[in-house]
Amino acid sequence: MSKQQKTSYIFLIGFMGCGKSSVAKALADKLHWKFIDTDDLIEKGEDATISEIFKTRGEEEFRKLETYYLKNINTEYSIIATGGGMPCFHDNMKWINDHGTSIYLKVNPQALFERLKLQKEHRPLVQQLSEEALMDFIKNKLKERSRYYEQAQVIVENNSFKDTIATIIDYWV
Ligand code: S3P
Repeated sequence: MSKQQKTSYIFLIGFMGCGKSSVAKALADKLHWKFIDTDDLIEKGEDATISEIFKTRGEEEFRKLETYYLKNINTEYSIIATGGGMPCFHDNMKWINDHGTSIYLKVNPQALFERLKLQKEHRPLVQQLSEEALMDFIKNKLKERSRYYEQAQVIVENNSFKDTIATIIDYWV
């Protein structure tokens, strides 16, 4: 990985279940930066869960909210765990690359499936899916979204949690 110019925002991007939030928390801890999760920002700001927003206002409205909350982040020295779809809507991926360092946690479909089948209930796009449908959904959506994710400035591929943290810290410091 070649080093980028240092910025005061690190955005972790990638598919649901790739580990953005836990990696972001651990990185924030190690670098003494703030941890931000964009889903949490939306839930607090809108006083509703992501599932409720999908249900009552629909996905299109949720995507507008994502863009709004993304562009209003102003806490410098933050590690930001983005929602899995965020880079793939509006001009969010370009905005992320223009304002910080983007890191794609690239995880293969089988590993995503193993994690997501245990963590479906808070994720409206997958909560109703059978295991078979979940695997198809992951493969199809990943294919559709990869062209956005692959625009990240740094790609960390199929690493364990520990190796992912070590690779990013090594890259960063
Ligand atoms: C979504 C991912 C979720 C959340 C919403 C939609 C997506 O975030 O933003 O359920 O479109 O992939 P996580 O990636 O944190 O699960």
